[in-house]
Amino acid sequence: MKRFLKILQENLSEERLNHSLGVARTAYYLAQKHLPEKKEKAFLAGIIHDIAREWPEERMIAFLKAKGYHITPEDKLNPVVLHAPAGAYFSRDMLGIYDEEIFSAVSRHTLGAVDMTELDMIIFLADLIEPGRSFAQRQNLLIASFQDLKRGMLLALENTVEYLRNKNKTIDSRTLLVLNYFREIVAKKSKI
Ligand SMILES: [Fe+2]
Ligand SMILES: [Fe+2]
Repeated sequence: MKRFLKILQENLSEERLNHSLGVARTAYYLAQKHLPEKKEKAFLAGIIHDIAREWPEERMIAFLKAKGYHITPEDKLNPVVLHAPAGAYFSRDMLGIYDEEIFSAVSRHTLGAVDMTELDMIIFLADLIEPGRSFAQRQNLLIASFQDLKRGMLLALENTVEYLRNKNKTIDSRTLLVLNYFREIVAKKSKI
């Protein structure tokens, strides 16, 4: 545990460590509501999700290449997204957290995916709604996430896309794909 804390401190600034603790706690509460048998796992995934967030770009790329990870042209346009898979490999291979569900949740916490598990969604959402975050939609997103993870995902992705559009920033095609997926499943659910 001591070694683990030391590694967290070595890789994260105080601010990011606080964020990670906030994500861990929020993920724990979200899991208590939606996935109670995995709340400890949610806490652990939350605490390590940003472990590679402050690495220099070159380190992230070199590390992922060494792991045989395929870096796409879109990743190269916005390399910050790579901290998610880099964090997943680091947690598994350097911290010894051999857990496929944690690996998946950490590696999907920036872009999401069309086949996200509940734990994936919990980490994705906890990252946005932890107490240290402040943005206009935070409260709505928090309520939606506790009510229904998929509706939370839809709202989160809609907010992200709107934010990027307003800032005239490029939107990753993978984000749009995931947004459309959640639009469809939430619409289907509300028809039942
Ligand atoms: Fe992150
Ligand atoms: Fe984060």
